[in-house]
Amino acid sequence: MRFAVAQTCRARPSTTLTRIGGSRHWRPLSRNSSSFVKVLGQDYPTDEKTNITSAIIEKLDRRLHLQPAHPIGTLRTLIESHFPSFSSYSDFSPVVTPAKNFDDLSFPEDHPGRSVTDSYYINNDLMLRTHTSAHEVETFAKGVREWLLTADVYRRDEIDASHYPAFHQMEGARIFDTSPNGIRELEEDNARLAAHLQRSNIVIEDIPHITATNPHQPLHDPKHSELVAQNLKLSLNSLILDLFGGRAGAAEGEPLRVRWIEAYFPFTSPSYEVEVFFHGKWLEILGCGVVLQSTLDRARVPDSIGWAFGLGLERIAMILYSIPDIRLFWSQDPRFLEQFAPGVINTFKPFSKYPACYKDVSFWLSDKSLHENDFCDLVRDTAGDLVEDVKLIDAFTHPKTQRSSRCFRINYRSMDKSLTNEEANVLHEQVIARLKQNFGVEIR
Ligand code: PHE
Repeated sequence: MRFAVAQTCRARPSTTLTRIGGSRHWRPLSRNSSSFVKVLGQDYPTDEKTNITSAIIEKLDRRLHLQPAHPIGTLRTLIESHFPSFSSYSDFSPVVTPAKNFDDLSFPEDHPGRSVTDSYYINNDLMLRTHTSAHEVETFAKGVREWLLTADVYRRDEIDASHYPAFHQMEGARIFDTSPNGIRELEEDNARLAAHLQRSNIVIEDIPHITATNPHQPLHDPKHSELVAQNLKLSLNSLILDLFGGRAGAAEGEPLRVRWIEAYFPFTSPSYEVEVFFHGKWLEILGCGVVLQSTLDRARVPDSIGWAFGLGLERIAMILYSIPDIRLFWSQDPRFLEQFAPGVINTFKPFSKYPACYKDVSFWLSDKSLHENDFCDLVRDTAGDLVEDVKLIDAFTHPKTQRSSRCFRINYRSMDKSLTNEEANVLHEQVIARLKQNFGVEIR
């Protein structure tokens, strides 16, 4: 289940984490009988942790963020030009060690993000990064003090219009010298940014930089931490103004509304999330905070203090381009791709008005565990982007026999053609067959 909003932030332990059945691991869906899996042209041995699917493997070489006219590529270049003095990286491999993705960032051993129900593993030693923060230590270790890093990231998740197991993030970071000169520079930068923002048509709901529930780190001078948090907020408010200003108001002439909220990440303190008010709703677009000193220590950068943020690019692009469904970013249909030009934000014109086709499947669970994400991955791996969303509509445990049943509703819909009922039936039959085969369920 999702335990972070908006596909930006996987950090809070989930309160909605549900597990169906026992706690046994998910069975790989599309591994052949050999004990290797090919990922980006390389063979890797599989083991009991392997859960990467072919639908995901196919996404790994798409590199949407490097396509200049693609909305994700344009957003990357616009953000890079907002931070002209920053070094930019966009070429890191998605295959990382769990140490890079979690340990380097001080994730606790029992953090739910580590589980096979939430992340894609190639095997015990390698996984697909779940966030761009996985590259913080190696990037700081290069000696660069202000940088941006864009990449595709992967999380097992439920399926709907704004959640997709592959998406893009942009990490940004800046560190300052803790010497008196460094701190003076920080204060001057804050004054410059504050003056710029004062002239803008933007309403920012702020919160205190540091509170008892969102503390500075024990090793930090509280005044330095406060100045860095302020610099982070000013830098991001100015980026948000640049991206959304004049575009995203609820109505013409309405000021842009942005709100800061307290957050928790294992690798920053204090930590925040930012939401933007768009079409009547608050949408989370980023997570950020003051970098944990242990991260900088691992990267061997002494006498420094700084901030980092992680932006969800699809979320921002959906707002800016009015793209209604996250699957569209992966479309290779010219009617999608030809609507966009490098560096230009324009309103997307929908081209598919094809009808939805709902199919339910209702079954008794066996003794094999079946997490909701297992079900979603099985459906995604069978029907690809012909599945628009999957909903658990009923869960029942028989009071006498203690047998449990589930009913899921799958919405099959193509983005670029009319899907016939017969075609949807064929896909649905395949889903049912694999459900029986992989999880031993009994159809009701
Ligand atoms: N990596 C976090 C996420 O994916 C976002 C983040 C980046 C938070 C940097 C703090 C600092 O949710």
